[in-house]
Amino acid sequence: MPDLSHRRADFPILHQQVGGHPLIYLDSAASSQKPRQVIDALVRYYERDNANVHRGLHELSNRATEQFEAVRAKVARFIGAASADEVIFTRGTTEGVNLVAQVWASHFLRPGDVIVSTGMEHHSNLVPWQLAAERCGAVVKYVPVLEDGTLDLAALRALLEEGSVKLLTCVHVSNSLGTINPVAQICAWARALGITTLVDGAQAVGHMPVDVQAIGCDFYVFSGHKICAPTGIGVLYGRAEVLANMPPWHGGGEMIDSVTLEGSTYKQAPARFEAGTPDIAGVIGLGAAIDYLEGIGIEVIHAHGQELIQATLQKLQTVPGLRVLGPPPPVQRGSLAAFSLACAHPHDLVEYANTKGLALRGGHHCTQPLMRRFGVVGTSRASFYLYNTHAEADRLVEVLHQAVKFFS
Ligand code: ALA
Repeated sequence: MPDLSHRRADFPILHQQVGGHPLIYLDSAASSQKPRQVIDALVRYYERDNANVHRGLHELSNRATEQFEAVRAKVARFIGAASADEVIFTRGTTEGVNLVAQVWASHFLRPGDVIVSTGMEHHSNLVPWQLAAERCGAVVKYVPVLEDGTLDLAALRALLEEGSVKLLTCVHVSNSLGTINPVAQICAWARALGITTLVDGAQAVGHMPVDVQAIGCDFYVFSGHKICAPTGIGVLYGRAEVLANMPPWHGGGEMIDSVTLEGSTYKQAPARFEAGTPDIAGVIGLGAAIDYLEGIGIEVIHAHGQELIQATLQKLQTVPGLRVLGPPPPVQRGSLAAFSLACAHPHDLVEYANTKGLALRGGHHCTQPLMRRFGVVGTSRASFYLYNTHAEADRLVEVLHQAVKFFS
């Protein structure tokens, strides 16, 4: 396994005790920690270059604008977009989905149209489509999840071929199962039928190589805070031809060409979808995070995550009464494991682990339909990132053994 342990020194927050134990942070699927390089970039920006972008002609505004737009180009390269104009800055994955579910859906969906989604979506890629369907008189249909945590691809194809499907939305890597969906294959099926596609990449980007052109989707969304960037910044990728046919979302400064009291005309993407002062520092932090990740290498981070999760899944099998959701080893999956323990409610288990210095997440992980599908109230989840080690995974397993004794 690539040894990334020296990278831990880059993350100041990791070097502390919780409950008298060294902190073991296993909640990166909820939000990752930030390296010194990203924190420094934020401080540098505020100390040296802070000003509004696109508006001023003075030195500070020019510097801020230059850095801001350079990140747009960097993001485009990072995710394989054909152009920086296909990168729209949002507050995060949720806002990206909502933008499409409001603007695209309101413009293109008609009564009786069908949106195909799946049974493993995060609420942020589910509720916006339910709202859109209500507004437009459309229907949402869901691809079932099989017992092994993968999508029923035969059912998916059949749904797409039923007719009237206008949009397919699907998570790339499930935050609750770890399943890596074959999104390129799925998008190819949809494209052949003229169906627009959106992929939720919140758990994929920054963990594995992502190339939106290779995937062939129309929209792809992700959040900065899960990939070492600050909270409050995210990206909506939209294919140029699709964005060109979408009306604006929020109205306000910088998204217009011209305004009269009678009406207004609008800029093209991405400015058309970025009304108001953006999260400039967040964008600069995102750029620093991408530099940081690329400095290590996404392939290296991916290999590290794979090794860690596969080894952990093997060790978890030794814990009595523990059931892991999602694809069993050796199937590749996201570097997370969500599990239930027969003797303890997930909240109790997470609180117990907290007393040992472990940060896990417990609950439904914003995937209530999926929890129902697997007959659990929720799960406890350990999720890894580049700074986690085998020793931490071993400690997780040790604490789970202790928990079994404690709760039984
Ligand atoms: N979507 C994030 C998670 O799975 C918040 O924890």
